[in-house]
Amino acid sequence: MSKVTVVGSGFVGATVAQHVAEQDLADVVVIDVIEGKPQGNALDLMEAAPILGHDRKLIGANDYKDTRDSDIVVITAGIARKPGMSREDLLKINAKIVQEVSRETIKYSPEATYIVVTNPLDVMTYLCWQTTKLPSERVIGMAGVLDSARFQTFIGMELKMSVQDVRAMVLGGHGDLMVPLPRYSTVNGVPITELMSPDRIEALCKRTRDGGAEIVGLLKTGSAYYAPGASAALMVESILKDKNRLLPCAVYADGHYGLKDVYVGLPAVLGAGGVKRVVDLHLSKEEAAALSASADSIKQNIDMMNQLLVAV
Ligand code: 2OP
Repeated sequence: MSKVTVVGSGFVGATVAQHVAEQDLADVVVIDVIEGKPQGNALDLMEAAPILGHDRKLIGANDYKDTRDSDIVVITAGIARKPGMSREDLLKINAKIVQEVSRETIKYSPEATYIVVTNPLDVMTYLCWQTTKLPSERVIGMAGVLDSARFQTFIGMELKMSVQDVRAMVLGGHGDLMVPLPRYSTVNGVPITELMSPDRIEALCKRTRDGGAEIVGLLKTGSAYYAPGASAALMVESILKDKNRLLPCAVYADGHYGLKDVYVGLPAVLGAGGVKRVVDLHLSKEEAAALSASADSIKQNIDMMNQLLVAV
């Protein structure tokens, strides 16, 4: 019987819990500091079970003891950036949350694999790895699946073709410097570079890079959760079912692509126990330079985070 803990009962956390239970992947514990909220979410999802026909158990919790022996811990806890808040403010607040969550959950689930969803994504994944002291293959960040799904959506819309046939790869950090790879994006094996003009491809890459902000602009009081929740659940599935899917994820680079000591989006094979291997693609000079710039920016933020954590 698999068990997944989802930390944070906001919209992203609740959506992850929903997919994990409704796809019959695992029983779920939703944990939050707010009393009642995770219990309410869990009970509501349980009450949907007879309609949907699954027998998964969901419980809400405020005590980390209830997360004991989880196979996977998904961290969604943290705040979203609000108007007037600097990236540094966000980093400081979420770093304290992710550090505390990592410390507490690892006590009860030392065998777990972690999926980090909290922003700034790559930096929070590094922090979770640093705090849990787990082997890096067991701490993974969710962003590449989401960014690639957005790219796939826009490609399907542009070409008026089923997104079912669209595969896409977006590497790099989950931010302005992410690196969509049109050469490695296809419609049923046909590279999109053969189906669209360079201008249109560049427009779709830009829309992908701004994908999170586009949703915030529309929602006004929050950020995306349906696609982020589905993305994290896809990673949970690949790990629990040992599917060995090749997915872009924030993984620890230890010499891959010439990058060292940083968490950054790279193509990874996800199966039992987390990252089985990182696949080295042949990148053009421009693509490699873009990936390296993205990794440098993450490194700067990791340094800033470590200074902020020492200061508090
Ligand atoms: C997103 O890309 C906010 O990171 C989140 O939607």
